Amino acid sequence: NTPSLIDKFGRKISYLRISVTDRCDLRCVYCMSEDMTFMPRAKLLTLEEIARIAKQYVDLGVSKIRITGGEPLTRRNVIKLFNDLGEMPGLKDLTVTTNGTLLTKYAEDLKKAGVTRINVSLDTLRADRFKEITRIGDIQKTLDGIDAALAQNFQSVKLNAVIMKNHNDDEIIDLVNYVRDRGLDISFIEEMPLGDMGDHDRNQSYCSSDEVLRRIEEHYKLIPSTETTGGPSRYYRSADSESRIGFISPHSHNFCDDCNRVRMTAEGRLLLCLGQEHSMDLRALVRAHPTDDAILRQAIIDSLDLKPKGHDFDVTAKPIIMRHMSTTGG
Ligand code: GTP
Ligand code: 5AD
Ligand code: SF4
Repeated sequence: NTPSLIDKFGRKISYLRISVTDRCDLRCVYCMSEDMTFMPRAKLLTLEEIARIAKQYVDLGVSKIRITGGEPLTRRNVIKLFNDLGEMPGLKDLTVTTNGTLLTKYAEDLKKAGVTRINVSLDTLRADRFKEITRIGDIQKTLDGIDAALAQNFQSVKLNAVIMKNHNDDEIIDLVNYVRDRGLDISFIEEMPLGDMGDHDRNQSYCSSDEVLRRIEEHYKLIPSTETTGGPSRYYRSADSESRIGFISPHSHNFCDDCNRVRMTAEGRLLLCLGQEHSMDLRALVRAHPTDDAILRQAIIDSLDLKPKGHDFDVTAKPIIMRHMSTTGG
């Protein structure tokens, strides 16, 4: 008889996102500033502490965990965490969001650990543009990583593409063709205003999901689908392809009423909403109570009272959340 995690708006929490590091081997313009300062390594939760917290969530009914970063695969020994999570009965969906650069090295280990699905961030298929958007990246590593993931037969390998006007909106069809050719899925994402971005003007680059959809429909007939991956994507399919084409539209189709998730930073800060700062310090709790899981579980239940109704993102204004996306991995 599992107690349920239900917040004061009646939303059931079944999805935990865990950031294991705020560091990354890329520097995407919409995610980090050029001169990021990272969390001191000494402040991070250990992998054992992360697994202990995750276990409490699974015992409380969470069935989906996504490991994020920064770039999660840069965290030392991270495969050990995947192995521990993969052994937790009750966890049905073990997933990771990655930039793909280290998948040639780790795809097989992830599959063996029980990872069900992988999301790879890729906004462009052009090497020069990839370098512009990521500031330092080499696209070939990510493309090879995607192929390595495909070779492992995960339930799905999905691309995440943040579409920005005058940066990559001319590649929407190329990206659709790329996923259709390989049996990948894709989610097109509206950029969210987290952290100050220096030169990158989010208001100018805003591109609505409806516009992306319209452009795809000039080439392919899309049929709305009711299927869900438990995340915010609204999916479409076309009759002649296996690929799911999704839209994550925090601005134009707010999805907060259906929110089913919370997220934890690598320092053990439990954030009840991506777009708000309401939080609880789980690191202090695990360290104050190294063996008493009941206390931890009760704190997790109590934390839901802090969960706000939703975000207040406004692309036309200066960001009010100064935390960068790289701290929570979305
Ligand atoms: P699936 O399990 O494949 O559905 O993945 P997901 O969409 O839940 O996770 P992913 O890490 O691939 O995130 C894709 C995009 O969705 C990123 O831009 C995230 O920031 C965004 N996203 C995920 N969850 C939330 C959320 O709760 N609120 C908001 N505003 N954005 C979210
Ligand atoms: N807005 C929307 N999506 C973002 N991501 C990173 N920063 C932003 C942002 N500001 C995406 C990445 C990755 C996912 C976790 O979040 O591309 O795929
Ligand atoms: Fe949930 Fe906040 Fe994301 Fe809205 S912005 S879906 S409330 S986490």
